[in-house]
Amino acid sequence: MRCQRLGGLELCVKLEYSNPTGSHKDRIAVYMLWGAARDGLLEPGGCVGEISSGNTAASLAWASRLLGVRAVLYVEGRVSPLKESLIRALGGELVRIPRGPEGRRAAVEDMESRGCLYIGQSGNEYNWLAHYETTGREILEQTNWAVDAFVMGVGTGGTLTGVGARLREEVGSTLVAGVSPRGSRLLGGGGGDVIEGLASHDEPRLYLKHSSVVERLIPVASSEAFEGVKQLARATGILAGPSTGAALAGLSRLVEEGLLDRGSRAVIVAADHATRYPDLLERLAAEEGGGRV
Ligand SMILES: Cc1ncc(COP(=O)(O)O)c(C=O)c1O
Repeated sequence: MRCQRLGGLELCVKLEYSNPTGSHKDRIAVYMLWGAARDGLLEPGGCVGEISSGNTAASLAWASRLLGVRAVLYVEGRVSPLKESLIRALGGELVRIPRGPEGRRAAVEDMESRGCLYIGQSGNEYNWLAHYETTGREILEQTNWAVDAFVMGVGTGGTLTGVGARLREEVGSTLVAGVSPRGSRLLGGGGGDVIEGLASHDEPRLYLKHSSVVERLIPVASSEAFEGVKQLARATGILAGPSTGAALAGLSRLVEEGLLDRGSRAVIVAADHATRYPDLLERLAAEEGGGRV
């Protein structure tokens, strides 16, 4: 966790990109596999499947190999070669499927035919529990139980609601706010801006189940997420992915609306690092305008 003053607040950033595969999803991968084993659904040498082309796929590939389990990862549509290589380099088996409900149905059928357990992070309680028991507890310890606000983008909602529940239980007064892409289904739209890692076209079951701890859900445009990445990099040197920029943009909104006093301590999570997004890095480089030598 890195804390520093920024615009009248104390901003604390939990650096989840320092986990083994570079994102907060390592925590849930371990918990979801451990949970499946505990529930008698997975045995050593068994197999798990998940539909994900993002951080969860890499994390499941990593954790499965560690635990001696096969991981088959179904990626929808076109995925960057970097992401595909990451999943395969970590030992995951990759299957490409068409984007949309048909492709997903076929993936679940394929998992069944291979005898793989469908992990389903968007409805998996162990996802929530990982953040309640580990991320939330660490944030409390690292801030000495003084957190005025916690802001996080909603993908499955596991991080926001798991950490949020823990903070509300132990601090009580923490303002828990979610961030969702402008026009998203969660915000009542038909599917909105694309901010990688955040839910735009669907309403994750886990979020819906645990959302009572969330006081605000803030719409953020993808352009604002990019500005947030830039602001964070310039102010702190932390080069995070777009969902972290979106959280910073959401936090700025709370400040503008007068919901946080001067000197308040706000926590956001750097879910992953900008190096995972070559296009984002290129844009940042172009805007910085630094010359080539
Ligand atoms: C980069 C990134 N940020 C944020 C999130 C959202 O996390 P959660 O699924 O816990 O809501 C995700 C989820 O995939 C992600 O990959």
